[in-house]
Amino acid sequence: MERRRLGRTDMTVSVLGFGGSEIGYQRVSARTVGRLLGAALDAGLNVIDTAECYEDSEVLIGRAVGGRRGDFHLFTKCGHAGGWGRADWRPAALLKSVERSLARLATDRLDLVQLHSCSLDVLRKGDVIAALERARERGLTRYVGYSGDGEAARYAVECERFDTLQTSVSLADQEAIDLTLPLAHARGVGVIAKRPLANAAWRYARKPAEPYYQPYWSRLRALDYDFLRAAGDGAAATALRFTLAVPGVHTAIVGTTRPGRWQQNAAALAGGALGAEAFERIRARWRERAEASWTGEV
Ligand SMILES: NC(=O)c1ccc[n+]([C@@H]2O[C@H](COP(=O)([O-])OP(=O)(O)OC[C@H]3O[C@@H](n4cnc5c(N)ncnc54)[C@H](OP(=O)(O)O)[C@@H]3O)[C@@H](O)[C@H]2O)c1
Repeated sequence: MERRRLGRTDMTVSVLGFGGSEIGYQRVSARTVGRLLGAALDAGLNVIDTAECYEDSEVLIGRAVGGRRGDFHLFTKCGHAGGWGRADWRPAALLKSVERSLARLATDRLDLVQLHSCSLDVLRKGDVIAALERARERGLTRYVGYSGDGEAARYAVECERFDTLQTSVSLADQEAIDLTLPLAHARGVGVIAKRPLANAAWRYARKPAEPYYQPYWSRLRALDYDFLRAAGDGAAATALRFTLAVPGVHTAIVGTTRPGRWQQNAAALAGGALGAEAFERIRARWRERAEASWTGEV
C-alpha cells in the first residue's frame, strides 16, 4: 500500500484510508467492525476517520481496535455531538465534544480533530478555530483540521490555521480540484478526500431512496462515463484511482460496512493512481457537462 506524507504533518498515511460513517449509520455489529478493521490494519491500513455524530461509530472503532492504537492515525470531528441536525459551535461545547470522542474511542490522544463542516460565517468568527487550538495545546489532539467544501474550505486553507482539509473529491465532485486543492498543496495542508467513490452511486439502476446518494447518482447519469459500465471491480477501481491521481490528495477514506472490502479496494489500487490520459478524459467530461449547481457536496 502506497503511503504519502499528509502535508506538513509528521503522518505518513496509507493512500486508502477508512471512512467511519457507514458503520455507524448502518448499525454494523461490533463483531463485524472488529473483523473489518482488524484485517484491514493487518493489510496496510493506517488511517481511520470518524466523527462525533456518526451514531456509534466512535464506540465501535474504540472497541474494535483501541488495543492497537499504535498501528493507525485516528481522526475525528466535532460540532454536532447531539446529532447532525443539532450543531453547537460554542467553544466550550467543541472542547467537551473532543473529550467525549477520546472516551468513546478508548484513547487518550487523537491525531486529528476536524471542525465538522461549519459554515464560512462560523469559521470567520475564529473562536471555533481557537477552541481546536486549545484542544491541541491541552494535548487532546496532535493536529487540527477543517472538514467541508466550497468557499468555507477555501477560507480554511487561506487562514493558515489548519493542518489538514477533508473535502469531497471524486469523479462526480470535482469543484475542489480547482477551488481549494492547488492552494492546499502550495501551503503544505494535508488533504483527506472524503466521499472518494461518489458513494458508488453507479450501483443503483434507479434513483436511490437514500437522499445522501441522490446528488451523485444524478450527476453520474449526466456525466455518463463509459467505464462505470465495466464488469466486476472495474468501475470502483477507476473511480478510486481517479481520486488518488488528483494533485494534492494524500489519502482517500472509503466508507464500507463489509469485511474484505478494504482489501478488495487495496487490490484495485495495485496499479497506482490513474494515468494522465485517462485522468484528463474524466476532467474533460466534467468541464463539458458539470452544471454550475454541482458544488462540493458536504
Ligand atoms: N462532512 C464531512 O465531514 C463528511 C461527509 C461525508 C463523508 N465523510 C467521510 O468520508 C467517508 C467516506 O464517505 P462515504 O462513505 O459517504 O462515501 P464513499 O467512500 O464514496 O462511498 C462509500 C460507499 O461505497 C461502497 N463501496 C466501497 N467500496 C466499493 C467497491 N469496491 N465497489 C462498490 N461499492 C463500494 C460502500 O458500500 P459497501 O458497504 O458495500 O462496501 C459504501 O456504500 C465517510 O465514511 C466519512 O468518514 C465526511
